[in-house]
Amino acid sequence: MSVAPPLLAVEGLTKSYGGIHAVRGVSFSLRSGEILALIGPNGAGKSTCFDMLNGQNKPDTGHVRLLGEETTGKKPREIWRMGVGRTFQITATFATMTVRENVQVALISHGKQLFNLWGSAPNFDRGEAGRLLELVGMGGYADRPCGELAYGDLKRLELAVALANQPKLLLMDEPTAGMAPRERVDLMRLTASIAREKSIGVLFTEHDMDVVFEHADRIIVLNRGTLIAEGSPAEVRSNPQVQAVYLGEGLLYEAGHREGASA
Ligand SMILES: Nc1ncnc2c1ncn2[C@@H]1O[C@H](COP(=O)(O)OP(=O)(O)OP(=O)(O)O)[C@@H](O)[C@H]1O
Ligand SMILES: [Mg+2]
Repeated sequence: MSVAPPLLAVEGLTKSYGGIHAVRGVSFSLRSGEILALIGPNGAGKSTCFDMLNGQNKPDTGHVRLLGEETTGKKPREIWRMGVGRTFQITATFATMTVRENVQVALISHGKQLFNLWGSAPNFDRGEAGRLLELVGMGGYADRPCGELAYGDLKRLELAVALANQPKLLLMDEPTAGMAPRERVDLMRLTASIAREKSIGVLFTEHDMDVVFEHADRIIVLNRGTLIAEGSPAEVRSNPQVQAVYLGEGLLYEAGHREGASA
């Protein structure tokens, strides 16, 4: 009997820029419905990893597999079609279109429908767009032009747009960057609950350790391109090597301290 492959399997991923080893032999896997955080100090190689997973950047060596199927070397569009969604596409939303129309465009794109976008978007997949907007708490904003939205609401729209593709895996590189602390926690809570309900795997990076420790099922830690730790939030927080890396920034101590104080 063969064992089902994990949703995402990363094996020996490596990328150098001249003399800089941005990512060095990184291997990990992720299950459907699992929320995995990739953390590490600035320049650790997190974004480089993400870009190799979504096809924007080619690894020097290594493999990426989605449900056993090789994605290494494929174009971003092909990887997206295989069910790998991303958030940070907000700059790709249309400011003059309404919130609902932006989701409709994403649904159409997912349905690979060929037609004149500007002509027929308003009626296409209207109901499904509405359901996705309700899911992310944006039902009341459906008819607003996207350009009027506050930043936190744009982020929720971005999530709805990503969900329109029915992703199996969501890649989120600093999804909460630029948001207020309260909004960050809310956005990740929303993302995590939808992902668990729909069995979507999530890989995210985040500098706010409160968000990481509250929402990740598991954490992997990169430092200077190399994975130095992997485990539950509690295991990672108590890992001496991780503490050494983060001590200078005070982040881990602060998050643990706050959690301890509020318990
Ligand atoms: N296109 C590039 N050309 C040269 N060096 C690069 C390039 N992209 C990344 N690097 C280098 O690779 C290393 C890893 O960078 P990366 O952006 O992946 O880190 P990161 O963990 O995402 O950092 P941050 O937390 O600041 O977002 C850094 O030393 C960076 O300067
Ligand atoms: Mg980065």
